[in-house]
Amino acid sequence: MCGIVGYVGNRPALGIVLDGLRRLEYRGYDSAGVAIVDRALLTEKRAGKLANLEKAVADGGGAGLGDGTTGIGHTRWATHGGPTDRNAHPHRSQDGRVAVIHNGIIENFGRLRAELESRGVEFTSDTDSECAAHLLAEELAALGDAQAPQERLAEAMRRVCRRLDGAFTLLAVDVQAPGAVVGARRNSPLVVGRGRGENYLASDVSAFIEHTREAVELGQDQVVLITADAIEITDFDGNPAQGHDYHIDWDSRAAEKGGYDYFMLKEIAEQPQAIADTLRGRLSETGEITLDEVRLSDQDLRDVDKVFIVACGTAYHAGMVAKYAIEHWTRIPCEVELASEFRYRDPVLDRSTLVVAISQSGETMDTLMALRHAKEQKARVLAICNTNGSTIPRESDAVLYTHGGPEIAVASTKAFLTQLVACYLVGLHLAQVRGVMYADEVAAVVEQLRGTPSKVNKVLEQMEPVRELSRDLASSRSVLFIGRHVGYPVALEGALKLKELAYMHAEGFAAGELKHGPIALIEQGTPVVCVVPSARGRGVLRDKVVSNIQEVRARGARTVVIAEEGDDAVAAYADHLILVPPTPTLLAPLVTTVPLQVLACEIAAARGHDVDQPRNLAKSVTVE
Ligand code: G6P
Repeated sequence: MCGIVGYVGNRPALGIVLDGLRRLEYRGYDSAGVAIVDRALLTEKRAGKLANLEKAVADGGGAGLGDGTTGIGHTRWATHGGPTDRNAHPHRSQDGRVAVIHNGIIENFGRLRAELESRGVEFTSDTDSECAAHLLAEELAALGDAQAPQERLAEAMRRVCRRLDGAFTLLAVDVQAPGAVVGARRNSPLVVGRGRGENYLASDVSAFIEHTREAVELGQDQVVLITADAIEITDFDGNPAQGHDYHIDWDSRAAEKGGYDYFMLKEIAEQPQAIADTLRGRLSETGEITLDEVRLSDQDLRDVDKVFIVACGTAYHAGMVAKYAIEHWTRIPCEVELASEFRYRDPVLDRSTLVVAISQSGETMDTLMALRHAKEQKARVLAICNTNGSTIPRESDAVLYTHGGPEIAVASTKAFLTQLVACYLVGLHLAQVRGVMYADEVAAVVEQLRGTPSKVNKVLEQMEPVRELSRDLASSRSVLFIGRHVGYPVALEGALKLKELAYMHAEGFAAGELKHGPIALIEQGTPVVCVVPSARGRGVLRDKVVSNIQEVRARGARTVVIAEEGDDAVAAYADHLILVPPTPTLLAPLVTTVPLQVLACEIAAARGHDVDQPRNLAKSVTVE
């Protein structure tokens, strides 16, 4: 949520900052702005997508912002104050000396604003962020000339941070300290890029990956001062602190469209590889499942008597699938809960509870807060995450990283499939450590998982009829999705994709629940997408779904049936039949989800929407 970039070096900052913002635009895209320190502090900001800012910069001749080598930039997802020019970041102090950009929510901003106004400060926006700019200017003025300008900027930032409540990443520049950008973070993401004779700050590494693959991870409540040659980190009280250096193991091509019209199409196509990468090296020579970081003993895992999965959005649907696998393989009770609800209902947790937090970004605030609540209650926390070094894995007792590579499209696709794989691996690991599954049984499931990339490939090769169908469904008023067992979360995910991308009314239902109410929604011609389980699994389950299909058909529904190759009998109930390769029951979501992703993407494109950047959304939601 909100993308932030900072640069100090020996090259003109403007182009570098704008390029960085382009790569971060998935984080929010309702307005954007830059500040460049040259001899003066120059800013430009515009409502709307980054293209509006780029146009304004180009119309001003670019030179309007000078060729200063220090700059910051911001792409926004609005919280306080609508997406207008005046609410776009950067915000300047009244004296024009500093410019500040912010990601997060400053919860005590009302009080701070009143305080500042009582001292005569006039606000020019409706944002919470602007108060940070005025406070910073006040602290700088109070510090006087006793310190060198760059030290003074860092000290002023620390003083401001000590006064702020809530979540924030802040970057600031001071016209009196050219050649420096100061950053601060509390509960919001910020990483440092280490260059040669230049350094970077950004919400995530994709902003600077084309310049450097060396990064420094910051801890909670830290302030960082970057100059062309130095990176100085302290806590909010000024005590020196250490960052954690790491190397980024993917390159800038991974964050480009590579010939596809949308990132989403590219990411859908990358799924077979992403699954294979997530599985690689997971089965040790002695037949054990390996996680990435484990700060728990086997005994801790043997003591687990309850599993809670917490996640949001698409990751929550992955958690719903995981529940079936974890309970089936481990026989431990498992609950799945929306992270935003979890801590507010006082869940019963103790040291023998395992909380599994699933998050692509590793920064989702709702999930992070659920995790912290679990830790306060002494529960053990295991993270499934796609982003190395992000907050959620850092605060967990054990981590399994998905190796999906960067996911840029706001609607999650390859992250979902790799989260499923990671959930299966966690379930197998638990079953193994607890002795309820033998090594050869675990190896057999891993072998089945290894067979899924080629099945997903096969589904992808057969998507032309789905594309045609999508164009046909693009004018529908509403689309319903039904499924049972692991097909139920698939139905929810299919509906979520369609809502996110096509802005259509779409709902997923447990197929058996339809008759208890939702069946009233069905009118003549209403499309109903039906996810049919394999008859080779629990035959009765498949037969029940077929009955549910007949029920909706009898009421006029137009059925789109996703079923396993060889299930010939189901064709009689399908207005449109999409066949997928036979897959073991619990693993079936890895293949049945794929046509639904393509369906949503194509319907959205047919309706003329921006597939990668749907309205009102952001990929990484760092507010509660
Ligand atoms: C946002 C995104 C969703 C995503 C959810 C959880 O709402 O738009 O696509 O599933 O956040 O994100 P996470 O990074 O925690 O997986």
